[in-house]
Amino acid sequence: MRSALLNIMVQAATKAGRSLSKDFGEVENLQVSVKGPADFVSNADKRAEQIVFEELQKARPTYAFLGEEGTEAKGTDGQHRWIVDPLDGTTNFLHGIPMFAVAIALERNQEIVASVIYNPVMDELYTAEKGGGAWLNDRKRLRVGGRKHLADTVIVTGINSRGRASDLLQLRQLAHVTPAVAGIRRTGSASTDLAWVAAGRFDGYWEAGLAPWDVAPGLLLLKEAGGVISDFSGTPGAIWNGEVVAGNESIQGQLLKIIKSVQ
Ligand code: IPD
Ligand code: CA
Ligand code: CA
Repeated sequence: MRSALLNIMVQAATKAGRSLSKDFGEVENLQVSVKGPADFVSNADKRAEQIVFEELQKARPTYAFLGEEGTEAKGTDGQHRWIVDPLDGTTNFLHGIPMFAVAIALERNQEIVASVIYNPVMDELYTAEKGGGAWLNDRKRLRVGGRKHLADTVIVTGINSRGRASDLLQLRQLAHVTPAVAGIRRTGSASTDLAWVAAGRFDGYWEAGLAPWDVAPGLLLLKEAGGVISDFSGTPGAIWNGEVVAGNESIQGQLLKIIKSVQ
């Protein structure tokens, strides 16, 4: 049973997801603008954010709103804030790769208390509420994978090509992690990465240079699925400095050890 709050979030994510799905079918015709070398913003993206904003604003008019595409509302209750990535996986979307999601988190007094990540093409709806577990399509309770040895794991990461210091650091980290694991993947959608670690599909995830809307929705999902998440120094949480190392307790620890050893 979803709470009223989660229902509102699911409603917003699925409505935006339907809009994205429709646009995805006509991806070649989309008018797009370039935000950076590897970071495109499309009309579909902005439309999706508008839908999420309107749905959430209608249901909870006093909550603040922070969206990647620039929608901001200060809110009046001083406690609640939506953190939204209306299209996480923009590059995939523009290339016709069906790996993208609408991601919504609710922050209450600086803590994430509810999350929704929705992939409309796969029709996968990930939901979590603090203390209520993490779920896929309302039916399947999620648990992080049980593997204990790094050598058996599939680890996902994300490396952008913006020529930033964090990208070069990640390439060095990749050179150290790759020989230690069974496989490396890159989906191009940070919220999907975290959701799939929560679902036990990936055993671990690390990335730097992320934004709060990339991390916040997946963070609660992962925690509610029994996972551990920290930044590169090992500090738990890690929404605001953009660094993430995640996995079950054992794998997260082993991955973090490698990450820490790379300068
Ligand atoms: C990006 C994706 C990608 C990650 C980037 C993000 P966007 O978000 O989550 O996996 O590597 O750092 O910016 O631009 O597709 O919303
Ligand atoms: Ca994103
Ligand atoms: Ca985005």
